[in-house]
Order: sequence, then structure tokens, then C-alpha cells
Amino acid sequence: MPQDKVAINLESLGRAAEFSLLDGSQGVPAIDIGSLYKQLGVFTYDPGFMSTASCKSAITYIDGENGILLYRGYPIEQLAKQSSFLEVAYLLMNGELPGDDELLAFTDEINHHAMLHEALRSFFDGFHYDAHPMAMMVGVMGSLSAFYHSELNMEDPEHRRISAMRMLAKVPTIAAACYRHSVGWPFVYPRVDLGYCENFMNMMFSLPSQKFIGKDHYIDPVAVKALNILFILHADHEQNASTSTVRLASSTGANPYACVAAGISALWGPAHGGANEAVLSMLSEIGSVDRIPEFIAKAKDKNDPFRLMGFGHRVYKNFDPRATLIRETCHEVLEKYSDNDEPLFELALALEQYALKDEYFIEKKLYPNVDFYSGIIYKALKIPEEMFTVMFVIARTAGWVSHWLEMMAEPSHRIGRPRQIYTGYEKRDYIPTEER
Ligand code: ACO
Repeated sequence: MPQDKVAINLESLGRAAEFSLLDGSQGVPAIDIGSLYKQLGVFTYDPGFMSTASCKSAITYIDGENGILLYRGYPIEQLAKQSSFLEVAYLLMNGELPGDDELLAFTDEINHHAMLHEALRSFFDGFHYDAHPMAMMVGVMGSLSAFYHSELNMEDPEHRRISAMRMLAKVPTIAAACYRHSVGWPFVYPRVDLGYCENFMNMMFSLPSQKFIGKDHYIDPVAVKALNILFILHADHEQNASTSTVRLASSTGANPYACVAAGISALWGPAHGGANEAVLSMLSEIGSVDRIPEFIAKAKDKNDPFRLMGFGHRVYKNFDPRATLIRETCHEVLEKYSDNDEPLFELALALEQYALKDEYFIEKKLYPNVDFYSGIIYKALKIPEEMFTVMFVIARTAGWVSHWLEMMAEPSHRIGRPRQIYTGYEKRDYIPTEER
């Protein structure tokens, strides 16, 4: 079959060239413009990367028009219903689902790396009690680079794999410690006899005076199931802002813990992972169903910066498949954990219905995204609001380290360095202060 070419003819400059189309295994083809500047002396301009593929990747596939999300080819619906978070993390990192022995060895290794270096614990003392847990996450994840740097050979795949495992293993321990620091409770060590999600809940809520998991206190399977699904749904989402940040920082060859700390920073914003916390603040601000029209009007008003948090997505333009799955979980959790007339969820559902019928939201294809519901579940599980984005960090670490591993294994990877269209002054001469 003849290969399509894209011809660009810059008549005014008298330059022309042809560019190839690159096809992936599925999805939208891309014009390979790597040699554009060399051939035609021009750049492309695409702020926000609306039409730009930044890399090749075999990890996650999204078809935004049809609401499809695949991890290594497996539909998110199947993984969310049948798999576990650690199994999904293995899949993302290694490309295939693990066999029994492989999963056991993977779990053992995660357990082995879950503790923090004792010296790292003292880092928390530097944070004021009311520091946002995301600020602590950035700082503490970044400072792991001080513990694991000199002996790290980035050229060695085994060294890279261990770094990835360390991050995945330690992230729940760090996350729980951030919470414990903010409430002044002693840190809880990870336990090898607990699963990934149970362990996290135990490190969050266990008290020296009262065990969270023990004879009388145990973790409800509904809560564990919900956490497991939430972590699976958030584990990866191809080249989103935080993953692209991790890739860009890593492209310089920087220490991986520092690069993941950069990803955590990018995730924090309300346009990305901070949306789940922002949804809850928005719902409390709205307060009651009768005020919904007022807030919908604000969201539609171009002179008002207010946006409906948890609505809209850069890629999904019909529905977010994660939102569909999580909506079911939300019902299950609330049935168990709150009275059926849970006001917050009622309000969220009423807002969802209202927005879905509104012409503005229909026309702009704005649907609830995964984070419209995740905050409500976390709240029901008694996770404090400032910890919502931290929960996202735990899950997305699986994606970040997988992309890092993929990128570092690619012999041709090069430093990420975008171009710009300069809009400042032309060259001008320095004027001494007394003459200005
Ligand atoms: N409320 C009201 N209007 C919206 C919203 C919203 N939540 N989202 C988008 N729009 C409008 C924009 O004003 C814009 O209108 P215009 O075309 O008249 O200028 C149009 O829809 C397109 O929006 P963009 O901002 O151009 O879309 P983009 O792809 O850049 O942004 C984003 C996507 C950031 C998710 C946006 O929809 C948003 O801010 N949503 C709320 C925050 C949120 O829920 N973030 C979580 C994302 S999911 C995740 O990270 C897990």
C-alpha cells in the first residue's frame, strides 16, 4: 500500500518538503515533523499540545471519542472488575499480566521496599503541621533522590527496575506519613501480612491504642474493593500533564525520584489531579440543590473564572469510561457508609443531571470525569479532603514509573526541548540607570 505523505509548500519562502505519516498499532496517525525545521526552517506552534504526540508508547491507549481506555491492550472495565492494583502495576511496568509466581514475587518485593529509611522520617519534622500533604509528597518523594543517587546506574535496567519498585512500594508509606504528620499521630510501619490497599488504610488510621486491623477492627471488603478500583482507574492515562512532566524531567537523565516529584507537582493543580479535592470544595460551596442553576450560570459565564470541577476532559469527548465504573462504586460505598440520603452525593447527582441536560455542556461535550466521583468515595471512606490528590499520587506512581522505564529503555530518547515563538523586544542597547 502506498504510504501517505504530507506535502508542505511555503510559497512565499520558496521552500517545499514532504513528511511521512506515522501509524501506531491503532489510533490517530501523526505527521513526522522531526525534520521540519531542518528542511523548511519553520517550527510548529501547538500550545497545550492539542495536536502533538510527544513520544511513542506501548503502555496505554485512549480513544477519547469512543470512551475507550486500554492498559497494555486490556480494557479498563475488565481490569477494574477482575484485577488488583498490584497486578495492574505489574502489567503497566512489564507489559504482560503476571503468573501466580510472578505476582507473588512482585508483591514480596513491594513489601520488602515499603519501609522508609529512618532518616527520611525526620524530614517530616521540617514541615509545619498544616502543610498541605501534596507539598510534603513533593518534598519527601524528591528527597528520596538524596538516599538513592550515588549508587544508581541509570544505564543498568536492573537499577532502573529497583528504583521503580522502590517508588511504588514507598509511596503509600509516604502518603500515610504525610497525613499522620498533619494530625500529630505517630507513623505506622507497613505490614507484610496486608495487601497494598489494606496496608495503606492501616498506616493511615491505626492507633497505638487501637488497632485498625485486628480482632475487632478490620477493613471492610467494600472499602478495599473501592480503593482497589480507584487505584486501578487512576494508574495510568498515557501522556497526561504529570506523566509528560515526568518524561520531560527524565529526558535530561535526572534522578528518577526527583522526576517523579516533578510529576507530583504537576498533578497537584485543579485542572489535573487536584480536581477531586476541588469537586468537594465546589459541592460544599454550592451547598444545596436549589443553588445549582446559579453555579451552572457561573460556569457558563466567560467573565467568571469558575468552572464546574470534575467536568470536561482534554481527551474524552463523549464519556470518561473511568467515570462510568466509579459511579457504580460510588453507589456501593455510599450504601454501606452513609445513610441513603447522603446529601453530598444527592447534590452531586443533581448537579450531574442538570449539567448533562444543559445546552452549553452538551455542545462543548463536557461530561463528568473520573474525579467528579472519586472525592465522594474518598470522603465516605473518611480520607480527609487534602489527601484526595495524594491518593491519586499513589495510583499514578505506577504509570509514572512505567513511562520512565519505557523511555529510559529506548536507546534513541533525547532531551525534551520545545521551541517557542518569541514575542518580546528585538535587540536593544543597555541604558544606564541615570539615563532611563
Ligand atoms: N466548566 C465550564 N466550562 C468548561 C469546563 C468546565 N469544567 N471545561 C471546559 N469548559 C469550556 C471552556 O471554557 C472552553 O470553552 P470555549 O471553547 O468557549 O473557550 C471549552 O469548554 C473547552 O475547554 P478547554 O479548557 O479548552 O479544554 P481543555 O481540554 O484545555 O481542558 C480540562 C480540559 C482542563 C479538564 C477542563 O475541562 C477543566 O478545567 N475541567 C475542570 C477541572 C477538572 O475536572 N479537571 C480534571 C481532569 S481529569 C483528570 O486529571 C483525572
